[in-house]
Amino acid sequence: SSHPLRDSHGRAITDLRVSVTDRCNYKCVYCRTGQAGAQYAELRTDEYLRLIRVFVDLGIEKVRLTGGEPLLRRDLPDMVRELAGWRTPSGHPLDLAITTNGHLLDELAKPLKEAGLTRITVSMDAVEEAAFERVTRVPGSFNAVTRGIRAAQDAGFGRIKINCVLLRGFNDDQIEAFGEFARRENVIVRFIEFMPLEEDRLWSPDVVVGLREIVERLNRVAPLTPLPANSVSETARRYGFADGKGEIGVIAPVTQAFCGACSRVRLTSDGKIRTCLFSNFEHDVYGQLRKGASDEDLRKFIVNTVEKKEARHHIGEPGFLKPSRSMVHIGG
Ligand code: GTP
Ligand code: 5AD
Repeated sequence: SSHPLRDSHGRAITDLRVSVTDRCNYKCVYCRTGQAGAQYAELRTDEYLRLIRVFVDLGIEKVRLTGGEPLLRRDLPDMVRELAGWRTPSGHPLDLAITTNGHLLDELAKPLKEAGLTRITVSMDAVEEAAFERVTRVPGSFNAVTRGIRAAQDAGFGRIKINCVLLRGFNDDQIEAFGEFARRENVIVRFIEFMPLEEDRLWSPDVVVGLREIVERLNRVAPLTPLPANSVSETARRYGFADGKGEIGVIAPVTQAFCGACSRVRLTSDGKIRTCLFSNFEHDVYGQLRKGASDEDLRKFIVNTVEKKEARHHIGEPGFLKPSRSMVHIGG
């Protein structure tokens, strides 16, 4: 219990996900409405950095920049350059990653690599253009993302992770083709069960494609074997094809919730701490900063907030309340 950030359920919090904007150039059906929606404030980069520094001094080792679409922040490479130079109190560099829709990677993969970024996850919900744009609702997005992934590979990002949220009736016909894609392209494809975090009222248990079905169907593409987890709090169950070519992950928050091993908290683009994706309450740490809080004040606020982290989410249970903001505002 020596870890400074521990919740009341005994979990050590070592991962911080920071949304740097809630603007997005896509309108993915599992996230946003087709209409222009609400937009919240964004902090300046130096303000995010001040807050992140306090978290890191409290034992955060892994920082993921998300959005909205993080690449819409023109100063993202500057922020990355700063974070890539930091050390944890025990002297290690941060595990620094971004999650992006890939639309602007063609232009930005190289600058981000040069700024010191080592890991990129790209959201890609279909390998076929029509299905892809049925999800993103942006014409031309498929070609842009395909180019973006190529650019990231050329820039030296190594094995990129691809996130695919599956929705029955939209893109569940893509599972097998994604299996082939993972084998061909040397990427890690991770299928994600659809969670009720969208602005449209689309979610129902029937729309969720569950882990078991995903694995069964991929197993028919080529035999799959489970791979050991990289860490105890890893969100994905990993699988390899028996011949060693390609890696698959399944992130199953709905049918196989992983809350017991959760090590994450989130900072929204407007500076609120969310202790769970499904929190019904946010903690305004930026409000403290604005009021002139010292680093010590911020440390206390963060320690107290993290302590209150929810035991688990209640997706699919009676009385479940959808969070008041959708994924685009919370940060993936
Ligand atoms: P890696 O370190 O690269 O494995 O990152 P990660 O496992 O955090 O993966 P990533 O950041 O790509 O998250 C993948 C997806 O998992 C997210 O987009 C969410 O859909 C889901 N996810 C991430 N964190 C949580 C969480 O705390 N709760 C729930 N229910 N789902 C989450
Ligand atoms: N359910 C599951 N995953 C989601 N994401 C966004 N909305 C949802 C949802 N409703 C994931 C996408 C994207 C990341 C930012 O969050 O995979 O990669």
